[in-house]
Amino acid sequence: MDNKYSLYKDSYLDKGTILVEKDNESNPINKDELNELLTCCEKVNKEFIEIGDAGESNNLLVGRFMTDVKKPEVVQNPFSKKVIDILSKKKMFDFIKNVCGKDKNLFLRRVQFNQIDKGNFVGYHLDTDSNPDYIAACVIQLGSDYTGGKYRVYQSNGKFNDFISGFGDLIISNCNYPHEVTKVESGNRKSLVFFVSDHEGKNKRNN
Ligand SMILES: [Fe+2]
Repeated sequence: MDNKYSLYKDSYLDKGTILVEKDNESNPINKDELNELLTCCEKVNKEFIEIGDAGESNNLLVGRFMTDVKKPEVVQNPFSKKVIDILSKKKMFDFIKNVCGKDKNLFLRRVQFNQIDKGNFVGYHLDTDSNPDYIAACVIQLGSDYTGGKYRVYQSNGKFNDFISGFGDLIISNCNYPHEVTKVESGNRKSLVFFVSDHEGKNKRNN
């Protein structure tokens, strides 16, 4: 295997999460795509969310492109197709599969924009409570002027690692690791989040 993949793969196994910087040659998103994603995320309608999909306490604005309540469904708006097309390209999925060590086909199941303003946060949760088949959460950072808002991923011993992402950075996180986004201290943290799975049928969550 390519050395650059094996470093990410080792880090993913160790910490449950990797951060790929914007200008790193491995980052699958190019500058034009990044700007297109940013435009779509800024224009899409948003709702304020206080209780998350897994029942956790939240405080953030959400714009949706694909939902996964009973099964994956594209949200009807002028932006979903463009966003989904960019995220679905082979380079992106090959990279995710390599990092996660998956040979099977992976599918997009949920795509949304999250904006966390000063004083707000995403509470501690497990992504597999939203869908037990989620493999990885991928987060493209679109905010460039915020502090705080660390992506905090917990290990089984209660210790955690913090990931601080700048504009254009990509985080890939194992959905079996509990995590949170700490309170934003200044500015706006804006991220495009998408969840991948090797299961494309019904969401098997219990409730
Ligand atoms: Fe999450």
